[in-house]
Amino acid sequence: MLGWLSKMRATRSVWRDESTGSVHVFGYQDLLHVLSNHTIFGSDFGDLTPSPPPDVPNFMEGVLTMTDPPRHGKLRKLVSQAFTPRSVAQLEPRIRQLTKELFDNVADQSEFDLVTAVTYPLPVIVIAEMLGIPSSDHALFRDWGEALLSNNYELPAGTVPDAPAITDSTAEKLRQMHAYLMEHIRDRRLRHREDLIGRLVAAEVDGDRLTDTEVVSFLNFLLLAGHLTTTLLMGNTLLCFEEAPEAMAEVRADRTLVEGTIEEVLRYRPPVVFGYRLTKSATSLGGVDIPPKTPVVMWLLSGNHDERQFDHADRFDIHRSPNPHLTFGHGIHFCLGAPLARLESRIVLNELLDRYAEVACGEPVFYEHSPEIYGAKSLPLTVRRA
Ligand code: HEM
Repeated sequence: MLGWLSKMRATRSVWRDESTGSVHVFGYQDLLHVLSNHTIFGSDFGDLTPSPPPDVPNFMEGVLTMTDPPRHGKLRKLVSQAFTPRSVAQLEPRIRQLTKELFDNVADQSEFDLVTAVTYPLPVIVIAEMLGIPSSDHALFRDWGEALLSNNYELPAGTVPDAPAITDSTAEKLRQMHAYLMEHIRDRRLRHREDLIGRLVAAEVDGDRLTDTEVVSFLNFLLLAGHLTTTLLMGNTLLCFEEAPEAMAEVRADRTLVEGTIEEVLRYRPPVVFGYRLTKSATSLGGVDIPPKTPVVMWLLSGNHDERQFDHADRFDIHRSPNPHLTFGHGIHFCLGAPLARLESRIVLNELLDRYAEVACGEPVFYEHSPEIYGAKSLPLTVRRA
């Protein structure tokens, strides 16, 4: 994919795909323009988002990433009350403890799947504990997450070719997920609890509260965005080291480099490859005239590899500074979970380096059917203890 993106960037920063009518943005500065101008490039896809069949819950109502101001500002204020950077920082000791426990489970093995053993369960347990739902249900969340990813019904029509229809088993999983989350919301409405669901249910801005539908949508989004992306980020760190083994040796020797390493992994191998906008009015970008209601595909991966923005952009360089990658977005929709994803990834990398003197990756299995996802769903490691 990087080769194609590089070719596109070399010939044009913005391209209109005549077969779908969508506009694709590849250049860093043009991506920044789109992300910064939410009055022209909106996030509410309205009629363009195919609704799921009537008997399948719609998790897209009130999702922050698909909402425009002024509603977005209000929703974001409501959920940020429950999701502050301070509350994330307080999680650090618990994340360290969980990470140690997960690595302990495979302490006697010289070969294991990093995703199954550590990087899948960790973020999902953390998010489940934040929400106040039993983390022992994490197998269910994975099943539901994969069901959501597999059908793509929430993606704007025409932007992903051949988006599959919802199968009966996917529909059943989505109904189960909805019922599960509703049960927890009802419970918090009956008796308040100091967990994330409790705080979301109680949060208030200008006398407004979130409806059940909005809370369900947000919880669904958190369960998916809050764990899958972070799982991918941690696996991507190892995949970057496979390409640049000297970088791993350097971080091992100097742990002050961990922070910059994670930022460079975020730039070099972003877990989310692209995002969407829909033009609210006619505009022009990179010499391309764009009519209103045009889906715009923002190639974040491409922006992160734009040679006009990053020197030696195709080199994995843990000393890169500044590193203004676009992996968490930019502007009003900037990722709320960025501090959590960064924290978890740093803790896992430190623990891995503490435990093992040597780490080698086997053959990863990638998410081939989800074009927006960049990373491994399985990553076998061979390790030698320190
Ligand atoms: C928004 C990426 C982890 C919660 C976003 C956006 C991106 C992104 C690109 C902006 C979408 C847009 O502009 O349309 C990532 C990546 C992650 C990650 C790469 C991990 C490496 C998390 C985590 C959480 C989270 C751990 C929560 C637990 C959110 C929320 C938004 C968001 C709530 C919506 C913000 C808004 O629209 O105002 N994320 N994310 N993310 N992310 Fe993340």
